[in-house]
Amino acid sequence: MWISSARPGVTLSRLSFVVVASFILLFWNYGLPQYSPTSRFSGQEEKATTPTPAATPHFILDTPGGDYAAATGYPDSATETIIPEEINLPESSPSSITIASVEPSLISCSDAKGAEDVMVVLKTSAVEIYEKLPEHLLTLFRCTPHYAIFSDLQGIVAGQNIYDALENTTVETKEKHKEFEDYRKIQQYRAEWQQLADLKGEGTKALDKWKFLPMVYKSYKMRPQAKFFVFIEADTSLSWTNLLQWINRLDSRIPYYAGAPSNVGKIRFAQRGGGFLLSNAAATLYATAYDQRYVLKWEKMTAGECCGDVALALGLNDAHVEFYSAFPLLQGETPASLDWTKRHWCAPVVSWHHMSPNEIDILWNFQQAWVKRNGWDTPYLIKNAFEEFVAPRLSPDRENWDNLSQDQIIIKPADADSITDGADWYKLSDLDKNSTASFESCKYACEQQNDCVQYRYKDSECSLGKVIRLGRRAHGDSLGYRSGWIMDRIKNLTDSWEPCSEPNWKFNQ
Ligand SMILES: *[C@@H]1O[C@H](CO)[C@@H](O)[C@H](O)[C@H]1NC(C)=O
Ligand SMILES: *[C@@H]1O[C@H](CO)[C@@H](O)[C@H](O)[C@H]1NC(C)=O
Ligand SMILES: *[C@@H]1O[C@H](CO)[C@@H](O)[C@H](O)[C@H]1NC(C)=O
Ligand SMILES: *[C@@H]1O[C@H](CO)[C@@H](O)[C@H](O)[C@H]1NC(C)=O
Repeated sequence: MWISSARPGVTLSRLSFVVVASFILLFWNYGLPQYSPTSRFSGQEEKATTPTPAATPHFILDTPGGDYAAATGYPDSATETIIPEEINLPESSPSSITIASVEPSLISCSDAKGAEDVMVVLKTSAVEIYEKLPEHLLTLFRCTPHYAIFSDLQGIVAGQNIYDALENTTVETKEKHKEFEDYRKIQQYRAEWQQLADLKGEGTKALDKWKFLPMVYKSYKMRPQAKFFVFIEADTSLSWTNLLQWINRLDSRIPYYAGAPSNVGKIRFAQRGGGFLLSNAAATLYATAYDQRYVLKWEKMTAGECCGDVALALGLNDAHVEFYSAFPLLQGETPASLDWTKRHWCAPVVSWHHMSPNEIDILWNFQQAWVKRNGWDTPYLIKNAFEEFVAPRLSPDRENWDNLSQDQIIIKPADADSITDGADWYKLSDLDKNSTASFESCKYACEQQNDCVQYRYKDSECSLGKVIRLGRRAHGDSLGYRSGWIMDRIKNLTDSWEPCSEPNWKFNQ
């Protein structure tokens, strides 16, 4: 059995035989790409600007049967339906909201319950700050009474104080590690009025890990009375209403360090992109330990770790703060890449990662509309995000659309002679063999398997998926993929996950 390469072009020309790969996707580890061998998104880390599903929330699909609402009886999202302002969503709540139908006027948000208790901290770099910060200033940070922005260059951006998280890094470290050449270059570029974005690269990326420990420490020092601290990246989308509802349920005297779990070796840590939460008790323990150990121990320890979120986990561990998995409240996917399963369906979603500024904006508008409709006491759930962002885009046939079906990948060998040992291809059922003939036969193969919900086809390669996933417009290697979903099965599945009688706020140690 050969495991399929993610790049079909390579597989096709070089291997020339059938590859069937099955991945268990339900319990996969939501790790950051570079650490976790199980991550499906290797190499995606910096691709926040990849083409995304159309920015218009409810575009009309141009393919036959593309209207999910019509095909499945989902409520037409243009129909306004009021949901009562209580936590328990009514059964089959028609909660889809038409963003366009809600005025974008600002909802008073900085005085929402719990807003005073939380300090939101964003980490960025001078090389991306002009590209990524404005969206946050225009949205989230208009609602957060207490926030701070950390970078690798101290200064003022759009009237906001930006802290240099590296200002107190010891001289020895700054001299010893070559990424600090870029740190000095950043300052030089600023002094010379050069384009800071030109410095984007491995060096400025490598600087990032040094920011975490001092950033968390200084955030605490800036606001030691904050009940909760939430740390995000510039490509994280944070739901203000869901965050507040979440922290209002937590006790800040319990030392929480919570986020989307990932592992490096034996270290369990909160991956940075999904954001992480520290309670006051956790931050207090951390700050005390930091005073004693940062210079002596933690900074040297940081040198040996790949990444700042891992180094921070070690520091917190050293300070006797335990990690809690807050998945899927805090999580590292986008609406395009998330696997929509029963496990997540009724959970409120607090963060999304790998989000470009325009996607962050779309989510923000959605949240504004949600709050306007439901008030500050009803969280939006993963299912609501599905209804808003995914359901309207599913169709039996989408040209040039990729990245969904990966549970079984069937590739027809280029020619019979090239099947050296032949076995795998010949072991396939006729149905599987036939699936590689055309888009229609691939779709047919999916229909014949009870648990198949989506399919993808290109050049004698048919991929079938058991998990609902939206994916993205095909580009690069994936150009030419054509994808589709079995609409009534998806409707059946999602119906079977209802009702969400209560938001599932559970998270575990
Ligand atoms: C660096 O040290 C100074 C002086 O102690 C302090 O005021 C400042 O907040 C520190 N900066 C950071 C990022 O820790
Ligand atoms: C699509 O899937 C492939 C293989 O699973 C993966 O390498 C790639 O990063 C994915 N692309 C997107 C946009 O999610
Ligand atoms: C596969 O295709 C062949 C030729 O088109 C057809 O005769 C056969 O019935 C198909 N088998 C299945 C299982 O669909
Ligand atoms: C959907 O569910 C109904 C009732 O359980 C069942 O009769 C029907 O066959 C299902 N449809 C699909 C496409 O699975």
